Amino acid sequence: MYTNHANRAKHDIESSELRKKKRMKCLAYVAAFAVFQTAIILIFVLTIMKVRTPKFRVRSANLESSEVVTAANPSFNMSMTAQLGVKNANFGNYKFQGSTVDFLYGNTPVGQAVVPKTKAGWRSTKKLTVVVNLSSNALTAGNSQLENDINAGFLTLNSQSTLNGKVELLFIFKKKKSINMDCNLTIGLTDKTVREINCK
Ligand SMILES: *[C@@H]1O[C@H](CO)[C@@H](O)[C@H](O)[C@H]1NC(C)=O
Ligand SMILES: *[C@@H]1O[C@H](CO)[C@@H](O)[C@H](O)[C@H]1NC(C)=O
Ligand SMILES: *[C@@H]1O[C@H](CO)[C@@H](O)[C@H](O)[C@H]1NC(C)=O
Repeated sequence: MYTNHANRAKHDIESSELRKKKRMKCLAYVAAFAVFQTAIILIFVLTIMKVRTPKFRVRSANLESSEVVTAANPSFNMSMTAQLGVKNANFGNYKFQGSTVDFLYGNTPVGQAVVPKTKAGWRSTKKLTVVVNLSSNALTAGNSQLENDINAGFLTLNSQSTLNGKVELLFIFKKKKSINMDCNLTIGLTDKTVREINCK
């Protein structure tokens, strides 16, 4: 095939340069792949493996019954059905212990709802329906704030709760997470409805 040594030598040099080029190309591919894989792992760690704090709030509430006295000694007794939500944005379940939700008027507890032990599935909202009896019995008689609010036709209650639980990322990695509820509910007394719910 080769007519002389010079040609053969030239060919050898060319083919070794070609091999070198090929090797460099191959290394470049390996490096690119490593960068690509690192990026994938980073995205995985930063999104899927990230522990997000679930949110606990009152989603909606209805008054089933309500008795309000506006006379000399203002007081109320109400039964409220509330839908609570535990919103879990994690790639894993949020399992929590049973707890309670305290409803406060000012700083005084006026009712308590029971939250059962359960879980919020990954990337979903667990909805819990609870019933709570609200009563002004614990408030001191002749509470002037209550008198003003009842005369104005609005009551603002605050709901407080803490859930203790664990986020289970991909069913394997467990991380303790406590979450708080802090919501204000404005109750309209004349139409007996929950007008507004604001949560932190
Ligand atoms: C609420 O219930 C208590 C007894 O638990 C009673 O003494 C009070 O009069 C009731 N108030 C109203 C507004 O019905
Ligand atoms: C609310 O009060 C009613 C009547 O007193 C009672 O039957 C009911 O069990 C109470 N509900 C809760 C959740 O405490
Ligand atoms: C609830 O109302 C109180 C008093 O107006 C306010 O200080 C607090 O920030 C409110 N909380 C929420 C969750 O809106």
